[in-house]
Amino acid sequence: MLNFNGQFQLNTNICYGDKSISHRALIFAAIADGISTVRNISLARDVLATAECLRRLGAEITFCGNTATVVPIKSLPAAQVVLNCENSGTTARLLAGLVAGLGVSARFVGDQSLSRRPMDRVIKPLQSMGADIYCERDCLFVCRGSRLSAIDYTAQVNSAQVKSAVLIAGLFADGVTVYRENIPTRNHTELLLQYLGANISADDNVICVKRSALRAFDITVPNDPSSAAFFVALALTKGLRATFSDVLLNNARLGFYRVLANSGARIRYDNVHTVCGEQVGNISVFPGAIKPLYASERDVCDAIDEIPALAVVALATKGTHVFCGVDELRRKESDRVQAIRRTAAACYQRCTADGGNLVIRSDGKLPRGMYFDDCCDHRIAMSRAILCQIAGGGSIDCAPFDISFPEFLTMMGVQPLKLGLVGADVSGSMSPRLMAYLAARKGICCSYDAVNVPPDVSDADLSAIIGGFDGVNVTMPFKTRVARLLGTSVPSVNTVGKNIVTQSTDGYGIIASLRSHGISVNNAKLWIVGAGGAAEACVAVLKKYGCAMQILNRTASKACYLTDKYALQTDIARPDGVLTFVPQCPFEQSIELPDSVQWVFVADYKGYSGAADKAMLRDITVVSGLEMLYNQGAKSFALWTSTPIQHGYKQFARSISSENFDVKRR
Ligand code: S3P
Repeated sequence: MLNFNGQFQLNTNICYGDKSISHRALIFAAIADGISTVRNISLARDVLATAECLRRLGAEITFCGNTATVVPIKSLPAAQVVLNCENSGTTARLLAGLVAGLGVSARFVGDQSLSRRPMDRVIKPLQSMGADIYCERDCLFVCRGSRLSAIDYTAQVNSAQVKSAVLIAGLFADGVTVYRENIPTRNHTELLLQYLGANISADDNVICVKRSALRAFDITVPNDPSSAAFFVALALTKGLRATFSDVLLNNARLGFYRVLANSGARIRYDNVHTVCGEQVGNISVFPGAIKPLYASERDVCDAIDEIPALAVVALATKGTHVFCGVDELRRKESDRVQAIRRTAAACYQRCTADGGNLVIRSDGKLPRGMYFDDCCDHRIAMSRAILCQIAGGGSIDCAPFDISFPEFLTMMGVQPLKLGLVGADVSGSMSPRLMAYLAARKGICCSYDAVNVPPDVSDADLSAIIGGFDGVNVTMPFKTRVARLLGTSVPSVNTVGKNIVTQSTDGYGIIASLRSHGISVNNAKLWIVGAGGAAEACVAVLKKYGCAMQILNRTASKACYLTDKYALQTDIARPDGVLTFVPQCPFEQSIELPDSVQWVFVADYKGYSGAADKAMLRDITVVSGLEMLYNQGAKSFALWTSTPIQHGYKQFARSISSENFDVKRR
């Protein structure tokens, strides 16, 4: 979770090399005739995936800051290699062309998102060149390079990746490979190949390439117009002036800027010059009114990665905005048409997608405090982050900016407080949602990431993980271990942070939850069901209230341990209340409630509790673990941020129960 509070300070003087050119520079360096240097290379995870795949194919690639040095492939791997393309379609598709041409054997794999994306578009043309490339289970495809012959191919989809795959394979094929496009897509492959001395010509949507040797090179990659687009959107909608220097100005990448300029946005290009065959220059934007946006099919093709950023401008601008021919967006890292529709829904704006066109009707008003938890696509995440900033605050639950733009937050000039949760299985935790709520109400810019750590992690690694946060919650099974590691006086802790006393807020969470139901625990007689870290932390707190307690636990030895340690009772027949810490366990479900019981507290908020069920049948008060989660979390958050504890569980509970399944709002 990452919460924005509307505050930012644009910092445009940073390096963020163009991702498309970075992929291509690495690939061509790997087959050039000597050592090459690529400066200002993008350090995006997608590009690093390409570098790692090229290493598997035999290239030596070293990074020193954002300069890569590439020693080309000297000898090809004899056995099949596995190429992990992670989230990157460009890696998979461009390297398919390279592997087919090199004559090696490779199994291409990728993450869940990439595994859902269409690969037929490269498999088919490469097959017709004679490559042995086919789909196989549990991978993207398998390619065994073989002798290739040239083809004359007409594009079936507007895709620079497919074009590049065919052209790269064409560098190794017998004859002249011809690639014909309907709408010209980005031509970085052609321009860089021309610059490196390949036999390639390109005119009128027809590109011809022959077997070629490439010379080694030393280039500086221009900055990425697709990344700058998010901040151009922010600057324009906030009425700010901003200049982005040394940005790639290739026409096929400027659809975003063209659409905005056509709608009245004041955008100026200057200091235009040529770098390795590409136009590069400065982009300045100036405050001014924007009319409704219209993007033709050609514009959409030239803004294929920037439509989410254009949608942000559309949502923030009153009017009916039209984007034609957006179907390709459905095949990106996520279905971006759907994601944009959900973004619009969260802003209470209308968005329809019929017949391949996307129409946004907006009154230009953005609600504060949107919460998005349905998408892990980097460009959707960045567009929503910008939208949250424009709206004055809001949260996204997934922030994979490093896939394409690791410098995103630096350029925005925000340094979120780094909060999180560490436990063995925290994937379903409600805490990120809770922290988003608390952060939004206090207007604090922070992240809160739930991190799964294997129970057998070493002490050193566990300490390092915890030390990486400004503030962290610790959950099962690490509460007692972290207490020991940090030498605290309490047996179990859940809250650690810079400049605060390591402690457990669990006890506070329970007492505050019970109090809000009018329950006083002073001198109460209680059953405690369970004997783990949370139960122990609770016992330690309740002791201070003079409670008499008996532990009921499936494993008797654990119950004895706590009984001895805290001098507890073993003969409470008529408890006033029951606190259960193991609601999912059959042992708990078998416990009968004596008629003396006036309330039941269930520490967990997921799953079935036998005690709660029996209590409800008898109209006995049940205090939910969600309330305790809220209270302990509110105290942890208050400690980390030096703010007062926020009371308001009911409002939080209402906000999460009124959420629909995909777009959440407070
Ligand atoms: C890219 C081409 C585009 C673009 C992608 C990068 C490239 O994909 O969306 O981010 O570097 O060639 P398609 O070719 O699938 O449109």
